[in-house]
Amino acid sequence: MTPPRRDATTNVVPPGSRVSRRGFLELLGLAGAAGAAGAMGLASPLGAQTAAVGGGAALPPGYAPGWPDGVMSGDPQPDGTVLWTRVADPGVADDVPIVWEVAEDAAFGTVVAGGMVAAGSATGRTAKVVVTGLASDRWYHYRFSAAGSTSPAGRLRTAPDTGASPDALTLAWCSCQQRSSLFVAQRAVANEPDLDLWMHLGDYVYVNDVTTLSLDDYRSMYRLWRTDADLRLVQAQLPTVAVWDDGEFYNGIDRTGDPTRLANAMTAWVENFPIVPPGGDPTRIHRSIRWGDLVDLVMIDTRQYRDPAIDATDTRTPEGAAIFDPSRTTLGTAQRAWLLDQLDTSAARWRALGNSYNFGMWRLDDLDDGTRPLPPGVHQNEGIYAPNEAWDDYWAEREAILEHLAANGIDNTVSLSGHTHIWIASALSPDPDDVSSPLVGYDFTCGSLTSDPDVIGQAVGNGSTPQDAYAFYRNVSEKSREINPWQAYVNFHNFGYGVATFTRDELVVEYKAIDVHDDGADPTLLARFVLPSGDPCAMSVEYFDEPLYNGATAAPTPVPHLPWQAPCQAVQPPTTTTTADTTTTTAAPGGTAAQPVTANPSFTG
Ligand SMILES: [Fe+2]
Repeated sequence: MTPPRRDATTNVVPPGSRVSRRGFLELLGLAGAAGAAGAMGLASPLGAQTAAVGGGAALPPGYAPGWPDGVMSGDPQPDGTVLWTRVADPGVADDVPIVWEVAEDAAFGTVVAGGMVAAGSATGRTAKVVVTGLASDRWYHYRFSAAGSTSPAGRLRTAPDTGASPDALTLAWCSCQQRSSLFVAQRAVANEPDLDLWMHLGDYVYVNDVTTLSLDDYRSMYRLWRTDADLRLVQAQLPTVAVWDDGEFYNGIDRTGDPTRLANAMTAWVENFPIVPPGGDPTRIHRSIRWGDLVDLVMIDTRQYRDPAIDATDTRTPEGAAIFDPSRTTLGTAQRAWLLDQLDTSAARWRALGNSYNFGMWRLDDLDDGTRPLPPGVHQNEGIYAPNEAWDDYWAEREAILEHLAANGIDNTVSLSGHTHIWIASALSPDPDDVSSPLVGYDFTCGSLTSDPDVIGQAVGNGSTPQDAYAFYRNVSEKSREINPWQAYVNFHNFGYGVATFTRDELVVEYKAIDVHDDGADPTLLARFVLPSGDPCAMSVEYFDEPLYNGATAAPTPVPHLPWQAPCQAVQPPTTTTTADTTTTTAAPGGTAAQPVTANPSFTG
């Protein structure tokens, strides 16, 4: 029997209905063969039946879809979500017809949505389904079937209704997964007990800057990364909300790149994530996801519209002073207007930016000496900035956004960020050098999942002991906090991810580290931040031991964390010694030669 051909992604289950497996097969027009599948002794009658679901497709005998990238759901909405998978290339031009189904139970006994979707060569054999008609604020199970095979099952979650008042949203966020070490952090995220979703802020892949050029080149990167079982695990377990950084294009990408190459990179990314670009623009990824009246997640694109980075770092030079140029943008005119509108119109208790790179100010040296009035010719925010091609390079645009928050009384705004491979937590005010500048929010930048720098390992390779290297980077971290008193936390050496729990009364952020060289590793807590709703000056921080890995056997030398005091009073002048050159140094214990902060090569993410 040839089943009826259906439009791609048509849901055959009437919205609000709950049907049995047989009922679902009948709706698909496949019921006649379900018994045959059972008679064949196959564990998955639906999968077996879909061997016959060709709809005219000429798939080669023995073709197996394989589900090599697993399954994903993403961008939860109150009535549905987006599902995603990929099948193996059948080697023929025909589409591979796939059955998709969403059930209330893990055994798929009660199906609430399902239908057919095609995986064609035009999309690299990926398939994407926009599911609607589901109940809000609950978990479901989903899977795909084709050519006699059923995919691993995944879990999806719908968001609360727009008008609902949920108690909490708990999410993990992360970035930067080189294939240089184990994806145990991704496994740990999958095993976190209370997550509603995970957010990946880019450097999901690191393409080859020279040889990754064509659409197929870019597609192959996602296929390669998804050979990792732990990555497939977390993607099946949790809804994914993602944006790109530069690893998905090439190092340092901006709007001036080759248009064909940029289009290839963006097409491959959109193809490979459970996202439907809003507004009919196939490469637009800035979008908002609302969690009732509790949180608006505002996902921004810092890459495709941006002016080239500066990285001259010293604002006393013309090149460095360009960071203050108000015409420079990382968002582009249209996205910036959209972002401000999202912030203005948000009725949620919290606003959280999904920001591919760190939003807080970060200086290696403060050059205005904290004196007022400023000497002639010295800019209010003069300094040596960290060379990491992030928001400091677009100082004026960031200042305008933060001033907008202050001027319009928009509170409870935070940025969840990635990119720099260094953990940083920063208080945000339009002008951190102005004691009257209001504190409008915080940036929480996570360290990398697996990507360099392995600063301890590098120092050991240069002859240091792990303990001395550890102590050195702990000292550098606290020296950074002296220079940047709005920084609540800095950590150069641990890998891991962040967990944010938004409730009506507070936001709790936890930084979690894991040993990416130990396949049995469990995460440990680095720091916990508690930000009361409406009172950023009252944010508190708990510091925990920062593990030393890399095979070290002795306990590292403790280096105490500076006490945290939110900069709601006068910003203290720096206590560090400033010099005319571009380095800030700190003594390392045990006589190890001090290194400049600028020695770290991986600020560029
Ligand atoms: Fe990175």
